[in-house]
Amino acid sequence: MLVLALVYVDALTEGMILAEDLLTPTGRFVLAAGAAIQAEQLPLLRTWGVIEANIDEASLDDEYDQHQELIAEYTKRAETLLNRRFALNDLEQEPVATLYRHAARFFAVKLQRGWEPPAFPEVPTSINLADLPAPLSVPHLLRGDVDVVSLPTVYTHIVELLDEPNSSSTQIAKVISKDASLTVRMLRLVNSPMYGFSGKIDSVSRAVSLLGTNELTTLALGITVVRQFENFHSAQLNMESFWRHSIRCGLFAKTLAGHLGDNSVEKYFTGGLLHDIGRLVMLDRMPLQYSGAVAKARQEQLPMYRAEQDCLKTDHSIIGKLLAEKWRLSPALIRMIGSHHSPRLARYSLEACVVHIADMFAHACCHEPLLLIEIPKLELQAWTETGLSTELIAPTIQQVEKEFKEIVQIFFGNTKTEESSVG
Ligand SMILES: [Fe+2]
Ligand SMILES: [Fe+2]
Repeated sequence: MLVLALVYVDALTEGMILAEDLLTPTGRFVLAAGAAIQAEQLPLLRTWGVIEANIDEASLDDEYDQHQELIAEYTKRAETLLNRRFALNDLEQEPVATLYRHAARFFAVKLQRGWEPPAFPEVPTSINLADLPAPLSVPHLLRGDVDVVSLPTVYTHIVELLDEPNSSSTQIAKVISKDASLTVRMLRLVNSPMYGFSGKIDSVSRAVSLLGTNELTTLALGITVVRQFENFHSAQLNMESFWRHSIRCGLFAKTLAGHLGDNSVEKYFTGGLLHDIGRLVMLDRMPLQYSGAVAKARQEQLPMYRAEQDCLKTDHSIIGKLLAEKWRLSPALIRMIGSHHSPRLARYSLEACVVHIADMFAHACCHEPLLLIEIPKLELQAWTETGLSTELIAPTIQQVEKEFKEIVQIFFGNTKTEESSVG
């Protein structure tokens, strides 16, 4: 009887016999069942995006066994890291199980290369919530006289121009070009692998003509919001972890949407980038009360937004949505920010589902706690509504990791890219 072994592409060797047709994750035919893999085909399989192949177990050799023995030890360690973190998720669900398997492989390879996972903080001793000040009301949180909720003039100018029926793309390009740091970041992003344009784009007006006015302004608004929060610090939250998570979420969102045929890179990237922005306002305006919510979430293993609702009578997705409305971001961005923990609130719109999934993936592929160790729960209906295939999970993780470092550098220079703490 034919016994199948699922073998990762980096463990494939010459002579292994395919037990099933080999396809790329997007369904393109590569090699037929029964074919023996040739040495010259091995590098090509990676180039074509093949992640793994079903091999006839009888054709596996000693070299493969040795490789497996070596990686098995690291995979075990990676699974130990992940087990606690997947506690809120149901590993019986196919997308969760597939993500877990690939995340374990992803961390196993990192461990094999000498990566030392940082220790997670201990659960704090119990905090008496009754001793903390009462939470602020939502209108109080969003008062416009604080730095974190009022944005710079360049932002206001762009929004005003977008409102004017006669404004031209040249005018918008002119306003953006006046802001040197915004221009530099935007051009670096447009020239990054995230877009993959051949040829260098060296002016805002050229970027506008290639991407379109709405697309470029979405990106400009996202960059401006991040810049506004750049010097924000909190005793509760490691800001470097926060921004790495946000960038990963943006990259996952735009990559997943791309797989679904929606190539609005800037919309999904910006939605992911800003999805947790409400958290910063809550931390800024009521740090003590927020520490109570963090303690409750850790002690009771609650998702953070649930603990926020219990302790603060609102949560970061609601505050983020209200901020996004106040800043007059597009309805799509408002949906993504406001419904990333409950996509059903946005009637399972594609944007809300994609950012919900992207957030969960960004947590799973990064070993650093964002207030909580646990990865948020994947809402299975959100996954089903998108029509995403589990075959795309591994190539998506690969794609995001390929782009991640460069995008972090564009936003934050070298300071937030240390591998020691990046999962
Ligand atoms: Fe969130
Ligand atoms: Fe998040």
